[in-house]
Amino acid sequence: MSRGRGWIPGGTVVLVAALAAAGAVPSRTLPQADVPIPGHTGGFGEDDCTVCHLEAGPNLPGGSLTLLGLPEAYEPGSSYELEVVLEAEGTARAGFQLTARHPDGSQAGAFTAGDGGVQVLSPDSLAADYVAQTAEGSEVTDPSGTTWRVHWTAPPGRGPILFHLAANSANGDQSPLGDLVYTAAREIGAASAP
Ligand code: HEC
Repeated sequence: MSRGRGWIPGGTVVLVAALAAAGAVPSRTLPQADVPIPGHTGGFGEDDCTVCHLEAGPNLPGGSLTLLGLPEAYEPGSSYELEVVLEAEGTARAGFQLTARHPDGSQAGAFTAGDGGVQVLSPDSLAADYVAQTAEGSEVTDPSGTTWRVHWTAPPGRGPILFHLAANSANGDQSPLGDLVYTAAREIGAASAP
């Protein structure tokens, strides 16, 4: 495998401690693969996962992140089955975040989990909902590709909608290091009124 995952020296623990000391990782609330911190899709001026998974990237060659199932133009009120597909060789654990927002940053439409691998978070401090993996959804069965399923119901209006997503192909060492982060964005408009 030539993914360069052997680059982590013995300093992992030191680096995590340094991150905690710098306030980047509050030491009492260390995030886990099954407790994602919303607000890290890279859209609307947000950070992406590389603010903590900071060893490389985002979007190094050799991997990809794709949002499948979106129409070119949505029908207001219609539901769509979406798939978030992270492809990167040698993934041992994985996670993601997905948002759908109006241009003003507010929530566009409604998400519901497609299966037990996905949860929908609605943080009070943020204007939109965040779809993310569950503990079950962070477990990787195929090391070259991970898929998360989510239903999305389009809002009643007809304005443009912006989707942002970020995902982490992790090496499974329960640290933020040695992981590969990918980001993607899509914008769709409504089908023309009948
Ligand atoms: C505020 C810092 C922070 C942010 C932001 C963050 N993570 Fe993490 N993440 C961590 C830490 C610390 C760990 C290691 C501790 C643990 O696994 O609980 C970790 C671990 C993980 C793991 C398991 C890694 C492994 O190799 O075992 C996954 C998967 C993961 N994060 C996904 C994500 C995704 C996806 C994002 C962005 C949408 C993200 N994280 C954003 C701090 C962060």
